[in-house]
Amino acid sequence: MSMGASKRLSNIYLHIPFCNLKCNYCDFPVHALGLQTPKDQKNTMIDTYLDYLEKEMDRTLEKIDTQRISEQLDTVYFGGGTPSLMSTQQLERVLNKIRKISNINQNTEVTVEMDPGTFDRVKLREYRDLGVNRVSMGVQTFNKGEFKKLGRGHDYKQIMIALDEIVASGFDLNQVSIDLMMGIPYQTLVTYRSNLEKALQMGFGHLSFYILTLEQGTPFHKLYNYDFSPLPHQDLVADMYQLTHDLLTASSFDHYEISNYGKPNSHSRHNSMYWLGDREYLSFGCGAANFLDGVRFARPKTLKGYYRYVDEIGLLDKVIKIQKGILRDQKNLSRSLMQNLIRSVLGRSTLVDLIMKSQLQVKERVFLLAITQSAILWVL
Ligand SMILES: C[S@@+](CC[C@H](N)C(=O)[O-])C[C@H]1O[C@@H](n2cnc3c(N)ncnc32)[C@H](O)[C@@H]1O
Ligand code: SF4
Repeated sequence: MSMGASKRLSNIYLHIPFCNLKCNYCDFPVHALGLQTPKDQKNTMIDTYLDYLEKEMDRTLEKIDTQRISEQLDTVYFGGGTPSLMSTQQLERVLNKIRKISNINQNTEVTVEMDPGTFDRVKLREYRDLGVNRVSMGVQTFNKGEFKKLGRGHDYKQIMIALDEIVASGFDLNQVSIDLMMGIPYQTLVTYRSNLEKALQMGFGHLSFYILTLEQGTPFHKLYNYDFSPLPHQDLVADMYQLTHDLLTASSFDHYEISNYGKPNSHSRHNSMYWLGDREYLSFGCGAANFLDGVRFARPKTLKGYYRYVDEIGLLDKVIKIQKGILRDQKNLSRSLMQNLIRSVLGRSTLVDLIMKSQLQVKERVFLLAITQSAILWVL
């Protein structure tokens, strides 16, 4: 019997969790390498990470039904962090590994997220020669005053340099995307409009817009409050959102996903896949979220936690057993393995929530709770 299209796995996400610095607003799974760290030291750290990434890929493939993987990948997405910190050789290494799983050809959308200051036209051409056909760069703002507050790992001038390098590299501009943020400190409708106009002038096929979220634990969370200046009032942010929609749709962009606008042939197939909601995909790497076998789970967000997760041989095997509700050997699991397992599969807050609600409606994916409630309390 042939596999239904939606059950096929044809999309891969890879998380590259390194940035030069951690921005003041960001709580993504990111490890800051440090601006002053020598390049070879950075490369060694990335190499070590790629060792683990490959190991995780091997282990996953041992456990899943590889028949589900399409012969031809539809999308490969390197997200971050700052994947463009990878050297060409490092990117090639990962792509070669993926090619052992499935084919990448010119129809595969291969995206790399980039930050100013981490690439030039030569690197971009080399990336393109390896099969990368879409790049997405974080600009956030073209306004110098706004930029200074963000704590980015590059200086203001590097934004325009990076954009010029993209153009000079000969990349198809329809396959270039930039990220902008709205609602950042000191932003006004006037400065925001000029950001938008500047982005439109660049002639790229795709633009992403994110409304600032004050994430717990970030410097912005300590410094700012949604209700007070210098953050623009929420009504003003709503006006920015509307202005974005009006200007972009008037410039032939489709608002095809909540944060994403693209010209008709420039929608990101990878973003659209997430938006469909029910499409299962493969993902790998520190903090990466998965949707596989009907279950969503995320890897540990720190490098240390992720390395331990990958090292714990057979962890995925246990995860799959749990998901299928056939875990019988929980007594043989070490406490740390159990902790890691439960947190990575369900997340502590979900567990607490389920336990508080007590009767733990037994869904397939939380079957474990039904049989080992005491074990869960033990590891919390
Ligand atoms: C995870 S980053 C990866 C791209 C790249 N590292 C960069 O920053 O340019 C993707 C985008 O998420 C957005 N983002 C990160 N933290 C955010 C926050 N707290 N609120 C809103 N948008 C955020 C930024 O616009 C960023 O470009
Ligand atoms: S560069 Fe991107 S991923 Fe890295 S800390 Fe800043 S916003 Fe987050």
